[in-house]
Amino acid sequence: MKTFTFRDYYNNEVELSYSKEPFSSRPGHVWVICRYDKQWLLTCHPRRGLEFPGGKVEAGETAEKAAIREVWEETGGIVNHITQIGQYKVKGRAETIVKNVYFADVQQIQIRDDYLETMGPVQLKHLPREPDKNYSFIMKDDVLPKALQQIRKRKLTS
Ligand code: GTP
Repeated sequence: MKTFTFRDYYNNEVELSYSKEPFSSRPGHVWVICRYDKQWLLTCHPRRGLEFPGGKVEAGETAEKAAIREVWEETGGIVNHITQIGQYKVKGRAETIVKNVYFADVQQIQIRDDYLETMGPVQLKHLPREPDKNYSFIMKDDVLPKALQQIRKRKLTS
């Protein structure tokens, strides 16, 4: 199994693999790179800034179900098709987390009264090469470019 090892924005060690469950068969977190209407679909977190939706897997839920739920809660997006890209592990100061990363094709965005922890959907034609201060730290390490590379290679975007 090939893994990529690098440091994140906070200098924590990250390991990424394109396999399904190289680090854990029960990952605690999910992150979803979303595409809607030929654009990228993100959300805006009030403290962290712009990021693809994601969050924690709830008790009794599969990681894929959590991914679909998080897209809906944070953007109002209804997922048409979801594909797992890989899994990554972040060795934080306090804890180590394992996150599944997905690509989701969103068929429709419904307006919600409340986007729970976020400020709702943000559509972008292009993602920045170097995400600035408006972007969340989770957009600022090698997970995003490596996942995008895989999405292109697997021809998942239109
Ligand atoms: P909440 O309980 O939702 O407030 O989250 P938290 O602040 O306790 O953090 P969480 O459990 O989501 O993650 C713990 C730590 O792991 C974070 O403080 C980050 O350092 C790190 N982390 C979580 N997700 C990511 C990610 O996608 N990328 C990177 N590089 N680090 C992450």
